[in-house]
Amino acid sequence: MIIVLDFGGQYNQLIARRVRECNVYCEVHPYTTPLDELLAMNPKGIILTGGPNSVYDMKSPHYDTALFEAGIPILGICYGAQLLAWSLGGKVETAPVSEYGKTDIDIDTTGTLFGRVSKKTVGWMSHTDYIAALPEDFRKTASSSVCPFAAFEDDKKKLYAVQFHPEVTHTVEGMKVLSAFVYDVCGCKGDWKMGDFVDSTIAAIKEKVGDGKALCALSGGVDSSVAAVMMSKAIGKQLTCVFVDHGLLRKDEGESVDAVFGPDGPYDLNFVHVDARERFYKKLAGVTEPEQKRKIIGEEFIRVFEEEAKKIGAVDYLVQGTIYPDVIESGLGDSAVIKSHHNVGGLPDYVDFKEIIEPLRMLFKDEVRRAGLELGIPEKLVYRQPFPGPGLGIRIIGDVTPEKVKIVQEADAIYREEIAKAMEGGVIPKYGQPGTIGQYFAALTNMRSVGVMGDFRTYDYAIALRAVMTSDFMTAEAAQLPWDVLGKVTNRIVNEVEHVNRVMYDCTSKPPGTIEFE
Ligand code: XMP
Repeated sequence: MIIVLDFGGQYNQLIARRVRECNVYCEVHPYTTPLDELLAMNPKGIILTGGPNSVYDMKSPHYDTALFEAGIPILGICYGAQLLAWSLGGKVETAPVSEYGKTDIDIDTTGTLFGRVSKKTVGWMSHTDYIAALPEDFRKTASSSVCPFAAFEDDKKKLYAVQFHPEVTHTVEGMKVLSAFVYDVCGCKGDWKMGDFVDSTIAAIKEKVGDGKALCALSGGVDSSVAAVMMSKAIGKQLTCVFVDHGLLRKDEGESVDAVFGPDGPYDLNFVHVDARERFYKKLAGVTEPEQKRKIIGEEFIRVFEEEAKKIGAVDYLVQGTIYPDVIESGLGDSAVIKSHHNVGGLPDYVDFKEIIEPLRMLFKDEVRRAGLELGIPEKLVYRQPFPGPGLGIRIIGDVTPEKVKIVQEADAIYREEIAKAMEGGVIPKYGQPGTIGQYFAALTNMRSVGVMGDFRTYDYAIALRAVMTSDFMTAEAAQLPWDVLGKVTNRIVNEVEHVNRVMYDCTSKPPGTIEFE
């Protein structure tokens, strides 16, 4: 295992993820972890991360200098590089100019980490301090126009440092640097698999929960499904999954969740399917303001969940499918806070439980999907689209009625069917492959317009189709879907879905649009 020691930088989980991409297991631990605890984990190497502080400020995070004498290979990145230099007697100062973004770097290819890197390369920099003088016995292995010591090493002591960020893709040859560290320096074999993570997480859950009870709010989305299956493999019937059908699900979604998690499905767990459609429709009747709709759906979800939780009685653990991007959104280190912007729309803070279990907290979405496949969850579920907690409620502009839900469900089902066919036929990349669409769905605009069908005038709704390319869902571009595919979808929707006579394609990127309509 490699340990990433977290000094508060933005990319810390990304470093861990890059190490895992080398098939080497990696965990992130805070810099407050005592040295003996760190050593007890028996890491093959330790990576010190970046961070927002100045190392010469005594209030900044520092670390026991005995770490550097422990004989474990260490790689300092950015603040981590400065900390390593400063701790061992080097000089760190404010740089004459800050370096941000892509930066030309001169590499000494005899450097231990740089054997496979070009002599002139590009690295991503983000720093205002720099290393002005190296500690004794270190040698420079890279420089930039601002940084005389953009990388340095003491190969005998197996201490290495880079001022730039090898973990971000803008550092073109960053993976060569990281893989040299984990394979060549730390001697990791690269034989770790996602299956190992799954197995060890299941074992850890088993030990933690013992004979206690756990409750999981299942949305049917990827994250909560993977978390639920992992839990069920660990504790079987001690787990109860509650699935709330708020009447704003995609077509046949309730049935497909039942098929996987219900009594006829392959998993050993208690499953409660709550049909709460009517009460949601009642609460939403006549409400048009998007935020109010979101609030109503979120609150009602909590009510229903609470009622079900009460029936089950006191539980020891609440299971959440939180993944790493959710953790960033809510701010690091606040694991006990239950987030409102989550797959299940936020959970009550007074459900009677001792602790929250978040087995996927360290993983990125694509890693969660890989874990899902390892757990034997059907591909159809693993590669399903992100679906917001408020569901179709925010894809129907204006007030929500059961009739409108039906229209958007039918249109969306056709759109998904045709996209699936286009993926199968190789017309567009399959979900999960490079260049794939990040998210696509149909929305019901609150607009009606005149059309003609047969010889009759129609005055019906317009459906909007959206498809975006995105990796992080923070920014997105409209996908350039083949005209043939869009034509086929349009044709089918206007012919097969009652009360729709027009289909439009949304070409807006995010920003200024958002991915969802409300
Ligand atoms: P926006 O519309 O903000 O969406 O560009 C970005 C991503 O977040 C999803 N989304 C939600 N997911 N609860 C969720 O679990 C929500 O309330 C919610 N609102 C938006 C959206 O589907 C997209 O993937």
